[in-house]
Amino acid sequence: MSRITLSRYLIEQTRSNNTPADLRFLIEVVARACKEISYAVSKGALGGVLGSMETENIQGEVQKKLDVLSNDILLEANEWGGHLAGMASEEMDNAYQIPGKYPKGAYLLVFDPLDGSSNIDVNVSVGTIFSVLRCPDRNGEEGDLGEEAFLQPGTEQVAAGYAIYGPQTMLMLTLGNGVKGFTLDRELGSFVMTHDNIQVPAQTKEFAINMSNQRHWEAPVTRYVDELLAGKSGPLEKDYNMRWVAAMVADVHRILTRGGMFMYPRDSREPEKPGKLRLMYEANPMSFIIEQAGGAATNGYQRILDIQPTSLHQRVAVFLGSKEEVERVTGYHQA
Ligand code: AHG
Ligand code: MN
Ligand code: MN
Repeated sequence: MSRITLSRYLIEQTRSNNTPADLRFLIEVVARACKEISYAVSKGALGGVLGSMETENIQGEVQKKLDVLSNDILLEANEWGGHLAGMASEEMDNAYQIPGKYPKGAYLLVFDPLDGSSNIDVNVSVGTIFSVLRCPDRNGEEGDLGEEAFLQPGTEQVAAGYAIYGPQTMLMLTLGNGVKGFTLDRELGSFVMTHDNIQVPAQTKEFAINMSNQRHWEAPVTRYVDELLAGKSGPLEKDYNMRWVAAMVADVHRILTRGGMFMYPRDSREPEKPGKLRLMYEANPMSFIIEQAGGAATNGYQRILDIQPTSLHQRVAVFLGSKEEVERVTGYHQA
């Protein structure tokens, strides 16, 4: 059987699913950038890429060298091709303007260039998360693209995906009609489809949460996790196992592969911030992917994809994964 590369898949989508050619080009360019990031990540200490910068991002997090390098790789790869009207990234305070010397296009690209960057120096999986939106009509308006253009609910995403840099480099992608998984064949230099029609099982016996924050959680989360921990003798009547990689890409990838429940709830440490994860760069693309694989994603109160963003860097609580578990903990928030 001939192998289906990412390029071939995208061309077939263009023919059969009305995927516009410039969206196909956009995904190809993002995939190429991810190959370059994968290469830099794999070099590690040999490439002089480990360790931190002296800078912080807008969230006050110290930037790793690879956070900045990955961000630059994605910007450089995507700015010249004429497919984008602008970009936004977890690592940049404001929207990125396409330089005047290049043509502009119809789409907006939003990304977390390197997710799980606390894992880099200890050689554990990290990844890149991205989301594609249409740029709203600017009615002929010239000048800089403002943050408002990006503030669209996750339901408006036309594509989303992530690359995971683990034992294998993989690219998981949705164009809104299911989720496909591609593994990087390093000798060929291409992503080859290895996972067709990915489905998250509706039930699970595995959950992921940073338990060290337990004392800061809200009551519905404490109740739910207490029930998970009570196992067979509790109301859920089964024993659960726990995993926490501390890189959302890796935890979500496990859930896409074998099911599970991922939680990063809001907590009382910084009451003005509803959770740690970022709506635009992490929660929306991952929720789109999980829903396209038959799972669910909420912030405890509503579907994440329905949230109307009010700022580029806003945070959100995340409950995502196997449908029945997400529905259960969401129900506890309503009680
Ligand atoms: P980033 O490295 O892009 O800042 O994201 C890290 C996020 C997410 O990937 C992960 O699930 C979570 O932070 C881990 O948080 P804790 O360190 O609190 O476990
Ligand atoms: Mn992240
Ligand atoms: Mn990041």
